Amino acid sequence: MDTDNKFLNVGVLLVATLIAAKLISALIMPRSRKRLPPVVRLMPVIGGLIRFLKGPVVMLREEYPKLGSVFTLNLLNKKVTFLIGPEVSAHFFKASESDLSQQEVYQFNVPSFGPGVVFDVDYSIRQEQFRFFTEALRVTKLKGYVDQMVKEAEDFFWKWGDSGEVDLKYELEHLIILTASRCLLGREVREKLFADVSALFHDIDNGMQPISVIFPYLPIPAHRRRDQARKKLAGIFESIISSRKLAEKSDNDMLQSFIDSKYKDRRPTTEAEVTGLLIAALFAGQHTSSITSTWTGAYLMTNEKYLSAVLEEQKDIMGKHGDIVDHDVLSEMDVLYRCIKEALRLHPPLLMLMRWTHSEFSVTTRDGKEYDIPKGHVVATSPSFANRLSHIYKDPDTYDPDRFAAGREEDKAAGTFSYISFGGGRHGCLGEPFAYLQIKAIWSHLLRNFDLELISPFPEGTMIHNML
Ligand code: HEM
Repeated sequence: MDTDNKFLNVGVLLVATLIAAKLISALIMPRSRKRLPPVVRLMPVIGGLIRFLKGPVVMLREEYPKLGSVFTLNLLNKKVTFLIGPEVSAHFFKASESDLSQQEVYQFNVPSFGPGVVFDVDYSIRQEQFRFFTEALRVTKLKGYVDQMVKEAEDFFWKWGDSGEVDLKYELEHLIILTASRCLLGREVREKLFADVSALFHDIDNGMQPISVIFPYLPIPAHRRRDQARKKLAGIFESIISSRKLAEKSDNDMLQSFIDSKYKDRRPTTEAEVTGLLIAALFAGQHTSSITSTWTGAYLMTNEKYLSAVLEEQKDIMGKHGDIVDHDVLSEMDVLYRCIKEALRLHPPLLMLMRWTHSEFSVTTRDGKEYDIPKGHVVATSPSFANRLSHIYKDPDTYDPDRFAAGREEDKAAGTFSYISFGGGRHGCLGEPFAYLQIKAIWSHLLRNFDLELISPFPEGTMIHNML
């Protein structure tokens, strides 16, 4: 009888515990479920992929009005939660690496940059490698780079002759890789190996296909060419680096800066690391800057008001400084700066930025809705979409560089992370000053030396030029 009672008691206790657990979870669970972001309605299984492949910005344009600034897309086996606008993206930009990390979502870059650098290494090492970037791009170095940028632009545009028709996009891409070779890869590459190195870089670049983001090691010809090119490039840099070390000569370029860089434990960079970091720099700066230069030109050629304003500014500044164009002179060109910044607002080259969530966090939207973003989601924001939000920018689709002028400063009025062409916060672009100086050096030269006219329909980049 006693034993029976014991069993009964244990049974009652068990049932009571289960009910209590159920009740507690019933109390907690619905609340947390209620706070999950809304989900994009899709065809089962591959619906997310189809929507995503149509272009993330198209998808955002369709879903943002329906679902608001925070929502989740089921993409194959991943949940991608979008955070659109400064009100909900502060954590995205500011969070520590242990909360939101880049490594998982940007892994697909590893076969292009090579082993031992950036997304192939732990955050502590990556942080040190980003310190090398910061050092290579500090103002004292930039001053030297600007002289090289100006010289490259002069030599390049000299070859255009007195008048003619050019494909602006093609031309600026070419000039920017020449300039990058000079300032980043160094004299040896620029003067002797330019054709070889740019062909190899082209193969590495072409190795980045849309499919590479999902399957970076898929055995396709583009990936094979990428891998061979990276090996050859590593060989070229190995010999440049050892001859520089032997000659004990020091140059002012990013290559030299990376050679001289040391980790906290005093370990010097290896040749493979230097090569990988240079490829990463080219990836970060090449297309981004050339696309932005082309858009700046296309907008200036089609906006009489701003073309006159930048021409006026060139006249004033050059009147003050004579023919000298250096770091400080370029830094005075505020109108040109705003014209570039506005082209970049409308056409940021990086459409989507992503992180991987390691811990849950909450966001509150502009209209007070609260959402919990669970651990294990990919979180994403989109410069292309967020830079055109109408509650931040007046007539957001209009090219209006004055929106950044004193008195309006629309990008600041709505708070930090309203303008995200260069990202921001913890991983904000380290090359932003370099990019502006390079684009300014190009456009300052063009504006002062040519009379330009866009002859293809906007936005194609064909235009005619006449030497002034
Ligand atoms: C118009 C030109 C450029 C644009 C629009 C641009 C844009 C960006 C953006 C949006 C990010 C943040 C990525 C993220 O948060 O996931 C970024 C990061 C970065 N950019 Fe740029 N970039 C430009 C030029 C350059 C150049 C010229 C360099 C170097 C030579 C460079 C080096 C870097 C580096 C090293 C990072 C990583 C920073 C970090 O994670 O801490 N960028 N860039």
